[in-house]
Amino acid sequence: MSEKNTLIQELETLQAKAEAKLASLSGEVALAKWKTEYLGKASPVMQVFKRLPEASKEERSQIGQFANQVKTVLEQSFELKAETARQATLAEALKSEQLDVTLPGRAPLNGRLHITTQTLREIYRIFAEMGFQIYRSPEVESDENNFELLNIPPHHPARDLWDTFFTKKEGVLLRTHTSPGQVRAKREFASEPIRVVLPGMCYRYEQTDASHEFQFNQVELLVVGKHITFANLKGTLQEFAERMYGKGVRTRIRPSYFPFVEPGAEMDVECFVCSGKGCPVCKQRGWLEILGCGMVHPVVLKNGGYDPKVYSGFAAGLGPERISMLRYHIDDIRNFWANDVRFLEQF
Ligand code: PHE
Repeated sequence: MSEKNTLIQELETLQAKAEAKLASLSGEVALAKWKTEYLGKASPVMQVFKRLPEASKEERSQIGQFANQVKTVLEQSFELKAETARQATLAEALKSEQLDVTLPGRAPLNGRLHITTQTLREIYRIFAEMGFQIYRSPEVESDENNFELLNIPPHHPARDLWDTFFTKKEGVLLRTHTSPGQVRAKREFASEPIRVVLPGMCYRYEQTDASHEFQFNQVELLVVGKHITFANLKGTLQEFAERMYGKGVRTRIRPSYFPFVEPGAEMDVECFVCSGKGCPVCKQRGWLEILGCGMVHPVVLKNGGYDPKVYSGFAAGLGPERISMLRYHIDDIRNFWANDVRFLEQF
């Protein structure tokens, strides 16, 4: 038998064997193995090409051609089988990973503004309607701005009104109220007329209870100009209370002391819990304090760069958390910064 016949017979046997095996296979792993075995570099078909020199010159091209033909046939069979396998896998996946697009979706959690942010924005809106601008000032302040320039010298007993967080740096503290912003605003605008609200976080070294927190917001009001009177102060605050709580809300102004105003006063709103009868929330007083206020002290005007003989002004400091408590009947100020979503979600 000639080389040609031997090799061709081998190829024929091989092709038949390979086809038979391919037909019996399933699964992509088995298919990959088959491919290496019958079409890989070490496979008998490929080896035939290496053995071509064994054949006579005339036969080589015929054997080569035949081997190529076998290779192509096997490749085609393989592709066909592989495609069928891929389709089967896909069909399987589609069946097992079925997606019901008609199921209702899961509602995404909606974020919301913190109740204090909402109240602050409402306060800004009310005062903006009355012609006030927002003026921002820092929470970390100097002793000078927080106390001295507000007419509270070192060691003055009035400092006891504000339990203070001091920093390790001499003369630097966490502001105990927004009033130091007054100094900054006056020094920036002197001697133009001023009508600003100064909002932001304040800090006090407090024993916390239902109505005291060691961090809370304040909104300071400051008006400076010629002929500003106590009547302007009262009218502005009453107007604010009515826009905030509704027409006819009961308020009262009573004398009080703050070193940076003269005369000084506090404004109260009727207690929401007991309607003025007296209860633990209002400490039996029937009223809840919502702000401190007064006419800017001449010394403080002067420290801000305004001549107290020509200019006068009024200031007030309100507590947005207290204001929210009155509006929504919240009985413990500690809820605001406790970060309990069950509380926060209600607003
Ligand atoms: N700064 C004062 C406080 O925190 C409030 C206040 C502001 C009083 C402006 C008078 C005028 O207690």
